[in-house]
Formats: sequence, C-alpha cells, structure tokens
Amino acid sequence: MNDEKPTASLLSRGNWSSGLGFVLAAVGSAIGLGNVWRFPYITGKYGGGAFVLVYIACVLAVGIPIMLAELLLGRKTHRNCVGAFRSLRPATPWVLTGWLGVVSGFVILSYYGVVGGWVLHYIYLSLSDGFTGKSTAEVSVMFESLAGNPLLQVAWQTLFMILTIGIVAGGIHSGIERGNKVMMPVLFFLLCALMVYALQTRGAREGLDFLLRPRWEQMSPAGVLEALGQAFFSLSLGMGAIITYGSYLGRETNLVRSAFYIAVGDTVVAVLAGFVIFPLVFTFGLEPGGGPGLIFQTLPVSFSRLPGGVLVGSAFFFLLAFAALTSAISLLEVVVAYFIDEQGWKRRPTTCIMGTVILLFGVPSASWSAVFDFMDKLATQYLLPFGALLIALFTGWVLSHGERRSEFHQAEISDFTYGGWSLLIRYVCPLAVAMIFLHLLRVL
Ligand code: PHE
Repeated sequence: MNDEKPTASLLSRGNWSSGLGFVLAAVGSAIGLGNVWRFPYITGKYGGGAFVLVYIACVLAVGIPIMLAELLLGRKTHRNCVGAFRSLRPATPWVLTGWLGVVSGFVILSYYGVVGGWVLHYIYLSLSDGFTGKSTAEVSVMFESLAGNPLLQVAWQTLFMILTIGIVAGGIHSGIERGNKVMMPVLFFLLCALMVYALQTRGAREGLDFLLRPRWEQMSPAGVLEALGQAFFSLSLGMGAIITYGSYLGRETNLVRSAFYIAVGDTVVAVLAGFVIFPLVFTFGLEPGGGPGLIFQTLPVSFSRLPGGVLVGSAFFFLLAFAALTSAISLLEVVVAYFIDEQGWKRRPTTCIMGTVILLFGVPSASWSAVFDFMDKLATQYLLPFGALLIALFTGWVLSHGERRSEFHQAEISDFTYGGWSLLIRYVCPLAVAMIFLHLLRVL
C-alpha cells in the first residue's frame, strides 16, 4: 500500500544489522526470568508433568501463531505497537490494542525489575562467597530476609532499571544487539552443564518423575490459564514487544522460520531450567510449590556444595541477570518506541523519563508481596491473554486475506503452512483464549 513510508521510517528508526541479530534479540526478549525463574515455580505449583504438557500445547497451538501474527504486524507497518494498528485501521478502536500493550509493558516491567534486582543481589552474594557452608534452611532465610526488606530490594531494582535504561537509550543497534550474540549461547551452555550436575544428584529420579510424569488429577482450568499466561509471558507475546521488534525488520528476514526458532529456543530453555531445578529441589528436601523464591532457594544450596561453586554461582546469576536485562529492554522499548514514533519525542530523554516512572511504579511491588502477586496476576492472566486475543482477532478477521498473504513473500511460507496458520489464528487462538476467559468470569 504505502511503499515509501516504511522505507523512510526504516532509515530514521534504525534497523537490525542482520537477520541473525534480530533473531537473537527476539530470543533475548523471550528468554529471561520467565523461563528460569517463573516457569519452574509455576510448574511446581501446578504439580509438574501435566502442566508441562499443557504448556507445550499452548506454545504450539497458540504461541507460535500469535508470534507470527505479531511479527507480521510489525514488519508490515514498521511502527510501534500503537502505530501498527493506527496505520492499518486508522480511526478505529483497534488502536486501543496497542495502548493495552504499552500499559502491559509498564505493569510487567514494574515488577520484573524487582526480580531483576534479586538476581543482581544474588550475583553480589555469590561473589562475596555468601553461600559457602550454608544449610538449606539458612539459604531460605537469606531469600526471605531479602524479600522482607523493601529498601534493599528497591536499591537493587534501581540498579537493574539503570542498566535497562542505559541500554535502551543507546538504541537498538549499539545497545540491544551486541551482547545477545555472546551471552545467550553462554547461558544455554551453563544451563546444560548445571543440568548434567543436577541429574547426578540424589533427587534426580524424583525430580524427573515430578517434571515428566503427568498427573492429570492435579490439572485444573486454573492451571490451563496459568499455562497459557506463562506461554505469553515467556514468549513475550500479547503486548506488542514482538510487534515492536518486528517493526525494525527488513523484508529479507524469514518470519515463519524466526517465529519457530524463537518459540522452540524459549521452550527448550524453560524445560532445561526445570531439569536443573527439580532434581535439586528433591535432593535438598525443598517444597516444589514453594513460590517465587524457588530458584533463589535451591540453586545457592547446590552452589555452596559444588567444587568451584563461587565461580559457577556467580557466572549463573550473572548470565541470568543478562537474560533478564535483554527481556527488560524489550519491555521498555515498547513504551519508548510509542513515545518516539507517535509523539515525536527524543530517544534519550524518553527512555530516562519512562524508565524512572516505571521504577517508581514498581516500588510498591518491592515493598508488599501482595502488590507483587497482584501485578503478576494482572499481567499474565488478564493483560497478556486479552492482548493476544485482540491481536489474533485483528490479524485473523480484521485484516483481509490479501493484506495477510501479501506480507509474506514466496519463499517464506508454503500454501499449506499459510492455511494451517490461518486456521490457528482465526479459530483456535481466539477460541482457546476466549474459553479461558469465560471460565474465569464464571469463577469470579
Ligand atoms: N519473555 C520475558 C521473559 O521470559 C518477559 C517478557 C514478557 C518480555 C513480555 C517482554 C514482553 O522473561
């Protein structure tokens, strides 16, 4: 339709330097605390095996199609998540979907920064040899005393947000792309190494049994909603982060392949984290459903017993902090890209102002765990699924077949794959999410 505008905006907005740079950045957005921190504790809460299967089904049937829809909307419009809807359907309420994304970015980053701060604190603890010789109970107390100390949490959260702001202010070229190329593969290999270690511990059998054997009696509609919310959270879907990242893409990147790689990579890391955590949970006699402190209470105990544990522990939390940062960056980028594109603000001041506002908005989450839980629930069970529902409806029903099809070039998608995706995005995704909401309403 409007061939000139995207090219002009591409030049002024910056672009990924290569297809690989984009895939790594999107993988960086997806892989983060959602995989290593949230996935194991939610899996623990919902009884293991059955949850993992439902989760994988959600990723395949709903996650990947919506990921492709977001990439399509981004690349087609070269706009932020509000501008994407505005340019495709001007002067319609669909622009609210984009707004919802900006709000979700605010809400998620506000408490994400708190957990990011915990990780930074744990880097400091590992480096200062804080875990050596500690018992399981003592390590648990260490986490509880952090979680019960708002001032300490806000201090670390502030540091985490300063790092996030610093990178986003640099722009996508210099800021976001570079580190991903090194750190993501290193995190993956460290997780693999930790898995090899965890699988040799006493609790390995029990841990694997917990993770792999489905006990369907423990699965409930609430568990399905959690699995779906976790899939959106972990894949960075339902709020325009992937629309925004896709908007910096040129035509040469294969969207279908990218969506697949990102989703598979993200899921592999989450399951890998499960393989590390649950053997250790059973080895050290911890509670699998122990909640948000799970990884902070299991891993340090094993680091304290491992030869070279100070080094391994520090490296692990350092890489996790990096993974958290690459996700936080994409959350802040959604908000910042809106103000730059739609309001004509400058990148640096916008990033500083918005980052600070989000930090302040996050202080209550650091101070009261009830607020933290509320924000997490609001984001994963309401905002992201609702955003994803709207994105699926918009792509599947509002855009015409021609508008969808023409964005894909020949080599990118076969007719068969396109037909399958259309079916999923038009029927399966909206119905799955809507059913969950209907159930929720009846419960409420
Ligand atoms: N996917 C990120 C993670 O797993 C969190 C995130 C959610 C990032 C939504 C962007 C958008 O940690």
